[in-house]
Amino acid sequence: MLRGLGLAIAALILTAAAPPWEWGSPVGLRPPRVPADNPMSVAKVELGRRLFYDADLLIDGTMACATCHEQHRAFADGNATHAGVHGDPGRRNVPGLANVAWLRSLTWGDSRITSLETQAAVPVIGKTPIEMGMAGEEAEIARRQSRDSCYPAMFTRAFPGSDTIDFAHVAKALAAFERTLVSFDTPYDAYARGDLSAMSAEAVAGSKLFDSDCRSCHSGPLLTDQKFHRMGSTPGSDAGLGEITRRTKDIGRFRSPSLRNVELTGPYFHDGSAKTIADAIRLHPHTANLYDAQVAQITAFLKSLTDRRFVTNTRYSLPELACGK
Ligand code: HEC
Ligand code: HEC
Repeated sequence: MLRGLGLAIAALILTAAAPPWEWGSPVGLRPPRVPADNPMSVAKVELGRRLFYDADLLIDGTMACATCHEQHRAFADGNATHAGVHGDPGRRNVPGLANVAWLRSLTWGDSRITSLETQAAVPVIGKTPIEMGMAGEEAEIARRQSRDSCYPAMFTRAFPGSDTIDFAHVAKALAAFERTLVSFDTPYDAYARGDLSAMSAEAVAGSKLFDSDCRSCHSGPLLTDQKFHRMGSTPGSDAGLGEITRRTKDIGRFRSPSLRNVELTGPYFHDGSAKTIADAIRLHPHTANLYDAQVAQITAFLKSLTDRRFVTNTRYSLPELACGK
């Protein structure tokens, strides 16, 4: 009883000490879930940003998260798939990272990866495919960072009261940086707020078609229902969600992608098989009834989901070589 009271008071003091993180009040969305053991802080985000651009997270120092997740492409990469460090063929298309903080599960087809902290380990130490090639080298990551002239102080600022540099801290800092990748500043959002000049007549016509044909899956402010669907009747070699759940009904199912910044994140689909937005639309079932002119209108609408400030915001770009701020 007394102990419970003590904890409650401690929690109160902690809440009072850390002001709530400012999420930039995106329309119609509650702040994202942040794990209790990884609260947001400016120092942690700054560390995560440096790690995101740091090729030393990788076995031979040639590849960073940012190699595949490029800011000017809304953190996708422009390739169908991206080969890993040893040239392992990439299996899947690199998704953009806008608003990942709000996603309930991460990657195209894995319902089990439910936090950015867990996801960060996939490219760094994952083995299928080998992306960054550091499996079994987590201690080496820590050693490299301890030798660096910036990291020791940055880790101490990000994780006060702890002087260990380890992979858990790397993952937490990367996740904190990724949560700041917030993107809701688009012509579409301006139009929704009442600026009727923000979207062309063609895009407005496209938005009506989109509401009737596409919203069921690309729904809500993120333009995704975050559920897993199968597009074709004959699934390809990638079993998607079925690979994880081992259930026949899940074979070939993939998570509906968010369509924010879709103009910049092509090629499309989990395997990069659609080169253009029009190709992506035509790969959906039940779109044969759409005329080409309608596909063009929907495409114009989807281009109103591009956030130019997001892709040029210097808070997300390669940090100065100096040790953070
Ligand atoms: C070799 C290219 C490559 C590198 C390097 C890479 N990624 Fe990725 N990333 C991908 C691919 C491909 C996917 C999709 C994987 C899948 O669906 O199976 C992905 C998915 C993600 C996702 C899930 C996004 C979503 O919409 O669900 C996040 C978050 C992410 N990466 C963060 C990172 C971080 C952090 C790093 C650095 C530690 C990193 N990535 C390094 C290629 C890469
Ligand atoms: C039944 C749910 C569903 C409906 C309805 C739907 N989509 Fe999709 N959409 C998906 C899924 C799932 C994917 C990913 C498929 C894959 O990678 O195999 C996707 C992918 C896309 C992509 C590619 C995005 C990327 O980043 O790769 C675009 C563009 C797209 N959809 C637009 C549309 C449009 C426009 C409509 C309406 C004409 C529509 N979708 C209707 C579920 C749906």
